[in-house]
Formats: sequence, structure tokens, C-alpha cells
Amino acid sequence: MVEEKKVARERRITVGTVAVGEGGKKRVMEALARGRISGGKFVQEFEEAFAAYHGLKYGIAVSTGTDADAVAVATLLERGGRRGDEVILPALTFISVANAVLHAGLVPRFADINADSYNLEPAAAEAAISPRTRAVMAVHNFGRPAPMGELAEVAARHGLMLIEDAAEAHGARYRGKLVGTFGAMAAYSFYVAHILTTGEGGMVITDDDELARLCRSLRAHGRACDCKVCVLNVDSSYCPLRYKYGDDTDIRFHFERVGFSSKMNELEAALGVEQVEKMDDIVRARRERLDYFNRHLARHEEFLKLFRAGPGEEISPLCYPLVVQREAPFERFELTKYLEQRGVETRPAFGCVPTQQPAYKWMGHREGEFPAAEHVGARGFYIGCHQNITDEDAAYVVAAFDEFMKKY
Ligand SMILES: Cc1ncc(COP(=O)(O)O)c(C=O)c1O
Repeated sequence: MVEEKKVARERRITVGTVAVGEGGKKRVMEALARGRISGGKFVQEFEEAFAAYHGLKYGIAVSTGTDADAVAVATLLERGGRRGDEVILPALTFISVANAVLHAGLVPRFADINADSYNLEPAAAEAAISPRTRAVMAVHNFGRPAPMGELAEVAARHGLMLIEDAAEAHGARYRGKLVGTFGAMAAYSFYVAHILTTGEGGMVITDDDELARLCRSLRAHGRACDCKVCVLNVDSSYCPLRYKYGDDTDIRFHFERVGFSSKMNELEAALGVEQVEKMDDIVRARRERLDYFNRHLARHEEFLKLFRAGPGEEISPLCYPLVVQREAPFERFELTKYLEQRGVETRPAFGCVPTQQPAYKWMGHREGEFPAAEHVGARGFYIGCHQNITDEDAAYVVAAFDEFMKKY
């Protein structure tokens, strides 16, 4: 047991951060003054800016990153998919990705990760394909780009849709190209612990006209009308298509599919617009922290696996994940407890969803089926790696590791 009283806690180094600048505050006040707080001008601006940042045509803002995944997956039902069809995803990831597949009416099919990269292993993804598979969900875990070249090949070989979950990887690149631009669609989260944040929020981005139309309908209960007025009634005008189906059928209450109620509001989007303006700076600052931790924790590499980019990868760190090596003379909890007592927040590295999360016991998977995900799930954890960690904070974090390691 670590003795709590003996540990000096001088600072608090959080895993996430929020910093609303003057631009964000001004826009929030503007939305309030306008009296328009459900989706409007800022939602539209945020969608356009975030999609444009990726060089794509469409952004569809939703309430959460989980909904972004669910909306993207639900489009499969209109592309030949049926309820109960399968989506392949990494066994180690935040649980919401699997939940979202179920919310959409499909079933998650887990495949093991690569123990070095923490991302979906293409061979395992291919081996998990069944006659009911419709899509591969490439999650960029912890901000590290998944192997998009190989995953795109697997998807193409089997006629599957490739969807990216870049909730943890805003601004990461693979072979020089931004993640989020490889698949048919990419889902993002702007939850408070994420790289760009609006408090709560999510977005699907795509270049595909038809998928964008479906996502807009799906986020709004499955509504039929896709005209500008019905999608985002920015200027309170009248729907030109309102009686397109006949004098007694109001298109605004005509629903073509089972959708979600998942819209973003103006106050969130007001923050989002500012976040996109600052995106390059935020990602750059996070990468500097990542480099710092990699340089200064290298002396503990015998016992801890660090977070180094592989060939062609440019990480945009959500956090700084570490895995306690099997040879280490201490357990994960001993180190994380010590760090917490020093004021360095930690979180477990998600766990292997099918075998380590009770919520997925019903699927009947057995311990040992996903060795890499189980290893990282049992021995991995993460600390903060964000733009508001100062140089002194970063040095303090490293000193805490040094202190803990002294006895080994
Ligand atoms: C990979 C991944 N996808 C999706 C989500 C869901 O995002 P949200 O919390 O906004 O629903 C998260 C986490 O928060 C995540 O880490």
C-alpha cells in the first residue's frame, strides 16, 4: 500500500482541460442576446469550419461523439444493411464506440489491437469479417492514427464501408493526410476531455452528398425534409417544400427513417467556432508535451511503454498513455495511486470492451480471445497531455515518476 501522508501534492495535473477565450465568450453572449440557443448560425459556422479544415464538404453537428458514431453507423441501414448486421471495431477502445453500434441497431464485432500501436490490427479485423459485416470502424485510439492504408484495403477487398472514429484524434495525420479524411465518414467528439471541446458535442464529417443528407435526417428524428430551413432554421423562414407530398402532409412531421434526437445547440457551437480557429495551436502545444514526456520518461522505459509514433504517424495526443511492462516490479495501481496522490490525474486505458467490461459479458467472449487488448486494458493508464500543462507542470509530472521509480 502507498502511504498517503508521505506524498507531497503541490499541483493538480488534470487529464483534460477547458479554456474558453474571448472569441468564445463573445459568441456565447451573442447567441444569448439573439435569443436563439437551439441550432442556428453558429452550428452552421462550426460545421462548415470543421469540415473545411479537413478539406471536406459537410459537417453534421450532433449532441455527442457517441451520437456521431451512431448516426454514421445508422446510415448503413440505407446502404443495403439490415438490423443485426455487424460492424468491426477494436476490442480496446472507449466503450461508447461499441454502445453506438448497438444504438444504431447493428452489432459490434470486436477484433484485437496491435499491442504497440493500440489500434485495430488489420489482420484481426479481416479475420473478424462474416457474411453480415457491413463496415470497419477505425478508431484512432488516444490520438494515434490507425493504420488507414491497410484498413482501407481490408474494407475495399470485402466491399465494406470504412468509418473513422477520430473522437480522440483531432488533427492527427497518417502519411501526411489528416485523419478523418480516409473513410466514407468520420465521427468526432467535443466532450470536455477531448482535444477540441464544446463541453458536450460531436460531429460527422464527409464528402458524400447522400451520406450527409442521411446524417442530417438521422440526427433530427429521421425527418424527411433536407431543405436549409428545416435543417437549420437560421433566419426563421418558411419551408419551401412543406406540402410537397400533398396539401395534407406537412413534410416537417413526416419521417422517413427511425432517427435520433441529437442536435447541437448554439452555445456549444459558439465555443466550437473558436476551437477550430485555435486548432493548430492546440495540436502543436499537445505535441510539444508529448515530445517532452517521451524524452524525459525514456529513462523509465524498461518498465513503462511510452507513446511513440510509428512510421507515417503524426499523433495528436488526447492524453499520454503508458503501459506497465510485464517485467516491472510494481503493479499499475501502485504507480497510479502514487501519481494521484501527487496530484497527477490518471485514468485506466479503457479496458478490453468484450472481456473486461461487464456491460459486454452478454456477448459471451472469453478472457484470452483478445490478448493485446487485454494486456493494454489491464496494465495501461493515461495522464494528461494538453495545452494547459505548463513547463513547470510537465517537469513536476516527470519528477513524480522519477521519485516513484527510485526504489526499483
Ligand atoms: C473513441 C471515442 N469515440 C467516441 C466517444 C464518445 O464521445 P462522447 O463522450 O462525446 O459521447 C469517445 C469518448 O468520449 C471516444 O473516446
